[in-house]
Amino acid sequence: MKSLHSVFDISDSQVKDVFDLADLPKSKQIRKSLGLLFFEPSTRTKLSFELAAKNLGINVLDFNPSSSSLSKGETFRDTISTFASFGIDALIIRHKSTQASTLAEKISGITTINAGDGRNQHPTQALLDLYTIKKYFNNLNQIRLCIVGDLLHSRVANSNLHFLKRFGIEVSILAPSTLIPKNLTGFKVHSDINSVIDNCNIVMCLRLQQERMTDALIPSKAEYFKYYGFKQEYFNRNKELFLMHPGPVNYNIDIADNLQSERNLINEQVANGVKIRQALLEYML
Ligand code: CP
Repeated sequence: MKSLHSVFDISDSQVKDVFDLADLPKSKQIRKSLGLLFFEPSTRTKLSFELAAKNLGINVLDFNPSSSSLSKGETFRDTISTFASFGIDALIIRHKSTQASTLAEKISGITTINAGDGRNQHPTQALLDLYTIKKYFNNLNQIRLCIVGDLLHSRVANSNLHFLKRFGIEVSILAPSTLIPKNLTGFKVHSDINSVIDNCNIVMCLRLQQERMTDALIPSKAEYFKYYGFKQEYFNRNKELFLMHPGPVNYNIDIADNLQSERNLINEQVANGVKIRQALLEYML
């Protein structure tokens, strides 16, 4: 049987052969497998998980929501149950809803890694950010890091604020008051970018998440860039200042384009994303 397009392509004896094979005990050497379920767009997180899994010899099931049975009305619950029925070992989930990965684990009972849930958490980004910082600084207690920009919509900020502080880093913030969560306390708030540039070791800029904004939270993008965007002159003014950004970047809004400095760590964050996610899969699976 070269191909199977119809039930008329398979003979009775071939049906029996297939059924016998299905009943054979499976080899203990069977490869691990994971599902990549990205209900929201992603480049870095999704592809780094995929590369990490492939480096480890793990099978990857890449779920594409727009071409899946979701478009026929299938529910989130049934989608997750379907992956569990495949017998896979882990789910990697990104979703616009907070707690989607927790719910997926409740439904499936299998190992689940949150690749970003709404404004809530992005734990693997926090891990790779801390890993990147540790490559440049021996003593985390001496680091002053400022998170700049759209904290209101940022799961990266929500993860890093507490995670980096837990490891001894002094974390502060700078943002328009409309982009700071109302319940956020315990962090120094800078009044302007000059005090950040003069007093911090690391500036972590965030993406202005225009797709999540329902109200006009800033007067204009040009004005936002003027007061909060990272510019080349900041590297010159503070020769020990490092720049981080989780990506994707809005150029000339979050940061200037054409920044030239070995203290721009954005590409290194991406590279470390593969290392950290590979280590995490190895550890968890
Ligand atoms: N930092 C981050 O989560 O990027 P992606 O949206 O490209 O995955």
